Amino acid sequence: MKAWWLAALALFACAAQPQEPRPGLQILVYGATGSIGTHIVDEALARGHLVTAVSRDPTRITKQHPNLAAVAGDLLDPESVGALVAGKDVVVTSVRGVIGERKSGEDSLQYLAVVNVTEQLRALGDGSGRLIHVGGAGSLEVAEGKLFADRLPKLFMSRALKAEIEGQVLALEYLRDLDDVAWSYATPPRTFTDGPRTGNFRVGGDRFMEDRRGKSRISRADFAVAVLDEAELERHTGKRFSVAY
Ligand SMILES: NC(=O)c1ccc[n+]([C@@H]2O[C@H](COP(=O)([O-])OP(=O)(O)OC[C@H]3O[C@@H](n4cnc5c(N)ncnc54)[C@H](OP(=O)(O)O)[C@@H]3O)[C@@H](O)[C@H]2O)c1
Repeated sequence: MKAWWLAALALFACAAQPQEPRPGLQILVYGATGSIGTHIVDEALARGHLVTAVSRDPTRITKQHPNLAAVAGDLLDPESVGALVAGKDVVVTSVRGVIGERKSGEDSLQYLAVVNVTEQLRALGDGSGRLIHVGGAGSLEVAEGKLFADRLPKLFMSRALKAEIEGQVLALEYLRDLDDVAWSYATPPRTFTDGPRTGNFRVGGDRFMEDRRGKSRISRADFAVAVLDEAELERHTGKRFSVAY
């Protein structure tokens, strides 16, 4: 075989994304007691992964499963984050909150989680796992240079919610500047529903997506499917992706 053909084959092999689902991943879930995180834990267990579910109070994680460990952890404590992310293939951050009184985007837990986890993943070096961050729809584009966050009515919005929306936009900007930690930013549509797991949804990029009736939504169970697809298939490393019906 000619040398150029071998080189092209090698290049293709390097560029190819893993296409087969990977069972038995070690997955750490921050926000395991949360409304989205509980679905992510359930979906990961249903697919045969080994899940470490984190809470500041792990007695709140009452689910029993042979592949589930409930552990104490606080995203604001770098030592605790460092100990928990070590040895994991995937770290999911699905958390919310605002720290302190200032209530700016930098004080949102969504932003602080991304900073604190990626710092600890970087410290682990080459063998470290990847981050999948559950982002916010406010960071999606509704038009060229215009975010969904800009379109939201702010008059009666709490300062905390404003800070969280801003924090999700900052988290994405922060991640986009990283080149030494593997990450994906999973972006929900405007609304989460309690609907069933269908496995049937669209996967997009930066654009805000609506269905034919102008609704932008997905069930929490289907969002978890999208997060686990990303954990297994690594289709959006170093990128954001969005999902909606
Ligand atoms: N349309 C949208 O864009 C949209 C809508 C809803 C949610 N979201 C996003 O989805 C994500 C999850 O939201 P959610 O509604 O599932 O949240 P949630 O139900 O309010 O749960 C918040 C989670 O954060 C965890 N947490 C809080 N402080 C922590 C800390 N210091 N260290 C570690 N964990 C901490 C809590 O764990 P413990 O209390 O057990 O420690 C809890 O599990 C957020 O990023 C949110 O912005 C987006």
